[in-house]
This record gives sequence, structure tokens and C-alpha cells, in this order.
Amino acid sequence: MAKAKTNYTCTECGGITNKWAGQCPACSQWNTLVETIIETGGNRFSNQHQGLAQTAPVVSLSDIDAIDIPRFGTGIEEFDRVLGGGLVAGGVVLIGGDPGIGKSTLLLQALANLSRVKKVLYVSGEESGAQIAMRGKRLSIDAKDLKLQAEIQLEKILHTLIEHKPEVVVIDSIQTVYSDALSSAPGSVAQVRECAAQLTRVAKQTGITIIMVGHVTKEGALAGPRVLEHIVDTVLYFEGDTHSSFRLVRAVKNRFGAVNELGVFAMTEKGLKGVSNPSALFLSQHDVAVAGSCVMVTQEGTRPLLVEIQALVDASHAPNARRLSVGLDQNRLAMLLAVLHRHAGIAAFDQDVFINAVGGVKITEPAADLAVLLAINSSMRNKPLPRGLVVFGEVGLAGEIRPAPRGQERLREAAKLGFSIAVIPKSNVPKHKIEGLTVIGVERIDDALNKIRDAGE
Ligand code: TYD
Ligand code: MG
Repeated sequence: MAKAKTNYTCTECGGITNKWAGQCPACSQWNTLVETIIETGGNRFSNQHQGLAQTAPVVSLSDIDAIDIPRFGTGIEEFDRVLGGGLVAGGVVLIGGDPGIGKSTLLLQALANLSRVKKVLYVSGEESGAQIAMRGKRLSIDAKDLKLQAEIQLEKILHTLIEHKPEVVVIDSIQTVYSDALSSAPGSVAQVRECAAQLTRVAKQTGITIIMVGHVTKEGALAGPRVLEHIVDTVLYFEGDTHSSFRLVRAVKNRFGAVNELGVFAMTEKGLKGVSNPSALFLSQHDVAVAGSCVMVTQEGTRPLLVEIQALVDASHAPNARRLSVGLDQNRLAMLLAVLHRHAGIAAFDQDVFINAVGGVKITEPAADLAVLLAINSSMRNKPLPRGLVVFGEVGLAGEIRPAPRGQERLREAAKLGFSIAVIPKSNVPKHKIEGLTVIGVERIDDALNKIRDAGE
């Protein structure tokens, strides 16, 4: 195929140049020029003015039938949950995660299930057919109707899609696919963007469901341009510690369902298995109460999860004390330490502070604030928090404790797992008593510290 004519477009300002340069001549940003195909076919806009092109009709919203989108399950309940109830015909899903976390495993299992009722195709650019067959054997899946293609050239993949008309296709991974029309290397921003856009176009035109695997950068974001996340319908991320057996799949964007929905899996000898009741997964079992540990209830999507937050505060010997957080926002930690100093008189400027959410779970909601502060205070004083304590609540810059959404559900889950004291924002305190749980409402951070001290005695 002949090379299409290309030029270079700035991803910041949209400026166009014929030759690549390190700096955009229009807006002077560095490293923003990416290769793009020049649209051919004459002047795209003139046709419409002459009324030659077919224009989509203008209709009233009320005249359109609001039919529910038909979905089909993947046979893996936890995967369907993050997808918002299953896959959608013509939907495009992007699934990102660290290498070796289980993306290929999950998708192979899902496709094998789907192959019993749908025409499916697994396009692999990363592994050979033999490698995938070996994995399939290990997973003991029924591979009779599971079609495989080891191909990385976009035009050939598109040809297969048109020819074989599969209903569900996995592209593993989008970074290995390249288009002949561009001269940039596979995996480059231009290639990834172009290939994803073309595949999405085909999905929308033909109703094929496409699941693309995406690599993540060292910072944990999907490698490739941000526009990739805008092109597709659903973006899922694999989270979790590769050393532990638990894996979380989180929806960060979903045009067909709720975001922040979480699927929980365990990696076993026979692939990924869904964990249907994960609320106690992220608690480490201490025989005796330890300092620096505080359990919080976080609400992930539609499900409350109990997560242990650990803190270690230790005298610093460096000119700048270290603040390190795993699974929680680092900037938020600095802010919380400032609040602790200003509103509770507890200084940590000469202390290294480390915090960790147990089990590799990432907590993005601010309702973790109170647990972080209590764990830090507990570690600093080397005094364990009362047994059976569970907390949640956002901490504001003025030292106030703000309510968290769905307080009742969080409390009920904590009570179910045997927690006996809950320290929560005052406005979250339920009107009716929850069996077995003493609920203490707090308004300010110093108030929370005092009430916990009293509860511990
Ligand atoms: P994989 O799906 O290849 O990861 P990705 O595609 O995200 O890079 O996962 C490979 C890891 O999973 C590897 O470390 C081995 C482990 N694994 C199991 O523990 N059990 C299994 O049944 C399979 C297939 C893999
Ligand atoms: Mg893989």
C-alpha cells in the first residue's frame, strides 16, 4: 500500500508543519508534534454546503425511542460488573495495566466463554499462537471456537474483521499494532492514535465489540495519547500488587455504565477467579493491636470495601523529611499533615511519614482522610487505636470533618464484619441504631482525636 501523505500536528495548539521539529513553531511547546495523515478526498466541507453529502436528520429528542442497550455477559461476573452489566455491540473497551498483571489471562478467559455463543477473534501482537495455546491449556478452556490471529498490521486486521465478521474481538495490544500509512514506529503516539481511531470507526460501523489492551507508563497512566481515552467508550484499569494474588479492575470511564465500579479477582493456578464478597480482603490480621493502623470503609462503585490504612512516622535524618504514600494521593498527605499541625497542634516537620493502603488497592476518594490522620497520629504516639474501630470522613483545610456519600451502607458493611466502634462525620450519623455498632459523630479533627482517646480508655 502506498504511504498516505502525512504532516505533523501539534497536540497542544493544533499547529501544522510539514517537517518534524522538537519545538512547535506555532506555540513553542516542546515534543508536541505528532505525525498525522492528511485527509484526502477534496475539500471536505464544500460538499455539505452544496447539499451533496447526506446530512443526518434533525429530530426531537422525545421522538427517539430510548431503548435499553442490549448487553451480553462475558461469563465472568466480576468483569461484567465493571463493564456496567456486560459488553455492548459496537462498544469499544480499552483495558490498561502493568505487565504481567493478568490482562491477557482475563481476556482469554472471557473470550473462551463468549465463543460458545458468539463469533470471537483474539488478535495477538505480543505472543505467538503457541504461547497463547499453552496459556489456554493451563486455564483448561474450551478453545474449539476461539479463533486466533497473530497479526500486527492494522490494514490486515481490518481486512480480517470485514471478511470474518466476528462479534467480539480482542486486540492484544494496541501498542503493537501499526498502520502502513504512517512512517512512525509501532507504539508511537501517532500510530496508537491512528490505529485506535480506525478500529473504533470499524466497531461503530459494523457493530463489532472491540476490546483493546493498552500498556501503562511508569507513572501508571495508559501509554499513548490522552485522546485514546476519549475515542473509546469504556476505559478499565487493572490495579493491585503483582506480588499478592488479588487483582482489581476499575472502570475510570464508561459510556454504558457507572464509573469507579470495581471488579475483584484472585489470580489462581487456573487463571483469574472472581471474588464476589471482597469487603474483608484488604485487612491484615493482627493478633494484637498495633500502632499506626486504622481501618476505613471506602465505597468503590456500588460496593463498600474495608481497607486498612497503615502509617509509619519516624524521626528524619535528612534535611527534607520524606513523605511517601502507596495507594493514596501524595499531595493530599502533605495537606493532611499541615491540617494536623495547624488544627490539632501535632507537628511532623522533622519526621518521615509513610502511608500505605494494604493489598495494593488504590483509594481515590477523600473519605480516606480521617483514617490517614488517625493512623499517623497513632504511629507518632506509638499507641494503637481501639480494637474494632472503623472510620471514614473527609478532612477540610479548616480542620472540619466533612460527610462522605452513602454513609449508611458503609456502616452496615462494617457492622456485618464485626467492627464495634465507628468514628464518622457528624452529619453521617444514622437516625436509627445499627446493631452491634457504637457510632460516634465528630465535627473537627481535634474533636475526633479526643473522642478516640476516650474510647480507647
Ligand atoms: P498475563 O495475562 O500474561 O498478563 P498481561 O497480559 O497483563 O501482561 O498474566 C501473566 C501472569 O499471570 C504471570 O505472571 C503468570 C500469572 N498466571 C497465573 O498465576 N495463573 C494462570 O493461570 C495464568 C494463565 C497466569
Ligand atoms: Mg499480555
